[in-house]
Amino acid sequence: MSIVTRRSAITGLGIALATPPLASPALAQSGDVFRIGLILPMTGPFASTGRQIEAAIRAWLRANPAPIAGKRIEILLRDDTGVAPDVTRRLAQELAVRERVQALAGFGLTPLALAAAPIATEAKLPMIVMAAATAIIPSRSPFILRTAFSLPQATAPIAIWAQRAGIRNAVTLVTDFAPGLDAERAFKERFTAAGGSVTAELRTPLRNPDYAPFLQRVRDARPDALFIFVPSGEGAPLMRQFAERGLREAGIRLIGTGDVLDDDILNDIGDSALGAVTSHHYSAAHDSAENRAFLAAYAAQAPGQRPNFMAVGGWDGMHLLAEGLRRTQGNTDGERLVAAMAGQEWISPRGPVRIDAQSRDMVQDIYIRRTERRDGQLWNIEFDRVERVGPMG
Ligand code: PHB
Repeated sequence: MSIVTRRSAITGLGIALATPPLASPALAQSGDVFRIGLILPMTGPFASTGRQIEAAIRAWLRANPAPIAGKRIEILLRDDTGVAPDVTRRLAQELAVRERVQALAGFGLTPLALAAAPIATEAKLPMIVMAAATAIIPSRSPFILRTAFSLPQATAPIAIWAQRAGIRNAVTLVTDFAPGLDAERAFKERFTAAGGSVTAELRTPLRNPDYAPFLQRVRDARPDALFIFVPSGEGAPLMRQFAERGLREAGIRLIGTGDVLDDDILNDIGDSALGAVTSHHYSAAHDSAENRAFLAAYAAQAPGQRPNFMAVGGWDGMHLLAEGLRRTQGNTDGERLVAAMAGQEWISPRGPVRIDAQSRDMVQDIYIRRTERRDGQLWNIEFDRVERVGPMG
């Protein structure tokens, strides 16, 4: 990117910052360093997402220490607290303009990714969405590529599985924000098209949710199954209420996307999760050489912690950026990097994946998993798979 473009980007962003002179230290360095501005919720209710992705990125860097196309990778980590889109937007601006990063990455929740998208467009910076999962996100900037998943993609397979498993009616319970509405819609569409019926659609607030009254309503309604989507990190308080209200004992089957029973919290949730069936793109129990290498690298970085699907989004995001840089032979022009990354295929710890060249979104296998105890620990054991699912399911 030329300096002129940078200046116009600065003007376009409406930021009253002095433009650094040509020979600024940041520019002098830029020849041998690739700077990634990583924006994550490191504090607040979604801090587990930040911790998981940061650990995975540091694990990737330890496992891949050699420069890429002659460049050393440098991470500039910023905490956006997870709940304030204006903070994410300001951090993205600062990273683009003052720190002169060559890519943006992270983005723990949908509202935060949407807030940063215009910055990526104006500054012409590749923006790797490693976590946020509403379907529309990559359409918000031609510079976005996603290594996470989308809610319709993860939801459609469990709706179809549920109908085949003899579940005739279900209540849905989702967090009331964009990914929750994506999940609610996708489940209803697929489940009813297959002959099932959704008898109630419950939405819980994103901030300070109290799940007890919602779960009591479900218990009273006695559906065959309860379909749940809550964002990663919320599964533990929800499952505590699920256990206390005795939903499992009442014969109500728990189904959902994998977010509610993610690997980070599964052992803490305990027995109330046993037998739940969820669909998702990653389980730490996935049996492959790539996943074993990922688990070993993650364990070296974060001993005693189990990576979840957020971590794998971070790990794959680093792979994607590094491969893009290799293909441009170290050219960091944003448009060239995006072109080099779109269409890439590789074997991720989750299985085979591809960044669809048109949508810049993930195409991946979605697994149906049952929560089981193995060797004293709880795992989401994959027992069925839908191959190459596109972002819309
Ligand atoms: C999102 O905000 O897009 C989001 C957050 C956490 C999840 C899934 C989606 O587990």
